[in-house]
Amino acid sequence: MSLGTCEIFEVGPRDGLQNEARDIPVGEKIALIDTLSRAGLRRIEAGSFVSPKRVPQMAGSGEVMAGIRRADGVRYGALTPNMRGFQDAQAAGVDEIAVFASASEGFSQANINASIAESLARFAPLLEEARHIDLPVRGYVSCVIECPYDGAVAPAAVAQVADKLFGMGCYEISLGDTIGAGTPDSIARMLLAVRDVVPVGRLAGHYHDTHDRAMANIDASLSLGVRVFDAAVGGLGGCPFAPGAAGNVATEAVAKHLAALGYDTGLDLDVIQEAAQMARAMRPG
Ligand code: HMG
Ligand code: MG
Repeated sequence: MSLGTCEIFEVGPRDGLQNEARDIPVGEKIALIDTLSRAGLRRIEAGSFVSPKRVPQMAGSGEVMAGIRRADGVRYGALTPNMRGFQDAQAAGVDEIAVFASASEGFSQANINASIAESLARFAPLLEEARHIDLPVRGYVSCVIECPYDGAVAPAAVAQVADKLFGMGCYEISLGDTIGAGTPDSIARMLLAVRDVVPVGRLAGHYHDTHDRAMANIDASLSLGVRVFDAAVGGLGGCPFAPGAAGNVATEAVAKHLAALGYDTGLDLDVIQEAAQMARAMRPG
């Protein structure tokens, strides 16, 4: 019996590859995205329009966007931290963008060199422009459980940033357990606070698998009504500004898990496996 629909938002080509030590050629990124495009995913985060000095691996995101074969029904997105990134992303023809804030001040400074309030002020003109051209904007909140610089993060702090991003026009809020510190209990406490201010149908869980708890955290989130989960094929990644952050929970594992529970994901597990093998082959050593 089907329990309904769940969606995986694929972040491997961005969150996954941004942290890889090897300089991955644009052609390999394009091949990975083209394979993912055959898997039944509806949204794929293909890159970032950020400072190439800060995240060198994402420097070729414009070329990646130009080189991929776009599949019908798939939206290709990118991170945009400021107006410059927004303009570059638009020139590259992205289908959606994402702004990214933090629930903790320490990570906000380390990641985007701005306080939380400054970052929201920086995002406001992007959201305004995006509204004019009907470009969907996703909003990330990082460090929803714990910050590598500031320690434990209160659920109310997460709710406050999520509420602001949603109020500014983000169509979905992705809740990032950036360093994988969450447990089913702490994830549930955080979600209960956020659910009070943003409809649960507009939330996504973005769980890194540092301590092998991402799947249990997905289960806790499912029981509270979350139906969208970010995942990276092959379990790629981490965050260059969050020491100790491991990769995102692996797409192939989440897809299998959701199917076993009885959720429809629309994914072709064979193609996902093919992409996972490609992703793993992209890692050095
Ligand atoms: P800034 O450090 O405040 O300084 O940048 P700036 O605005 O003066 O710019 C510094 C340099 O970057 C300048 O170049 C700018 O031209 C250039 P320089 O004069 O030194 O040669 N620059 C840009 N270049 C290309 N595209 C741009 C752009 N903007 C400025 N858009 C900024 C602020 C946010 C740009 C910078 O700090 C940055 O790029 N940070 C990288 C942030 C990032 O990509 N982090 C990883 C992704 S977030 C994440 O992984 C978490 C998430 O997965 C959720 C989770 O797990 O929690 C989303
Ligand atoms: Mg992440």
